[in-house]
Amino acid sequence: MIFVLTGAGISRESGLDTFRDKDGLWSKVNIEDVATPRAFKKDPVRVLEFYDFRRKELLSGDIKPNPAHQALARLESQISNYRAEKGLKKPGLFLVTQNVDDLHERGGSKQVCHTHGSLLWAKCQACDHKFKWLKNLSLEEVCPKCQAQGQLRPDVVWFEEMPYHLEEIETNLKNCHLFVSIGTSGLVYPAASYLRVAKKLKVPTLEINIAPTGSANLYDRGFYGPASEAVPQWVDEVISQLNLWVFN
Ligand code: OAD
Repeated sequence: MIFVLTGAGISRESGLDTFRDKDGLWSKVNIEDVATPRAFKKDPVRVLEFYDFRRKELLSGDIKPNPAHQALARLESQISNYRAEKGLKKPGLFLVTQNVDDLHERGGSKQVCHTHGSLLWAKCQACDHKFKWLKNLSLEEVCPKCQAQGQLRPDVVWFEEMPYHLEEIETNLKNCHLFVSIGTSGLVYPAASYLRVAKKLKVPTLEINIAPTGSANLYDRGFYGPASEAVPQWVDEVISQLNLWVFN
């Protein structure tokens, strides 16, 4: 089974900012002002506005999945067809993204694990109810479940909060035969630890990025170039030898 971890770099050519590149989001705003529970307590309007801007941008019509997202969807469907033909039960691909956009889904992927939540969902701080939300969020809004006012926030994981689906991720990491990271600096935990876990388990590792990251020397292989070119090339390579990566 192939374990794929994606980060902001895969969506860069779709028009979305990364975080830590020179022109990235964290060069324009401070993490402490917009992406922590403390920031939301101190200035909820500022935090809501930051995510409103990003949600609006994502839904603007200018932002579309690029060939990298589409290639991963193609990989998923090829693996799934191959498994069906061979009567195999175990999944052949696990795709986990740190991205809060929906470009993997729009690119055609059916199973995507969003470990940092989604920009297109809201959550109530009072009752933890989560629901799809495409408009701006304001303190006037009322939770549709518990009716609390001013408690709605984007359903994204902030710094100091626990990422989602950690058990599912760990199980898949422990069972994979190839670990691939795409367009991520690999600096944010726990995603940053997956490479070390894979290496400890002696699983082959591959980094796909526009340029080698600080951890590049730890990977068995690096494939460097814009995601829209490098990912489809890698996916073609895998599809041409699927029997190597889909186990019973
Ligand atoms: P980063 O901004 O840290 O890293 C983006 C990576 O994408 C870098 O390694 C770039 O070299 C690479 N990159 C840029 N353009 C690319 C392209 N066209 N093709 C391929 N690679 C490209 O973003 P993440 O690693 O995703 O979390 O950041 C992880 C987390 O930190 C985010 O989910 C977010 C952020 O703070 C929270 O907000 C909690």
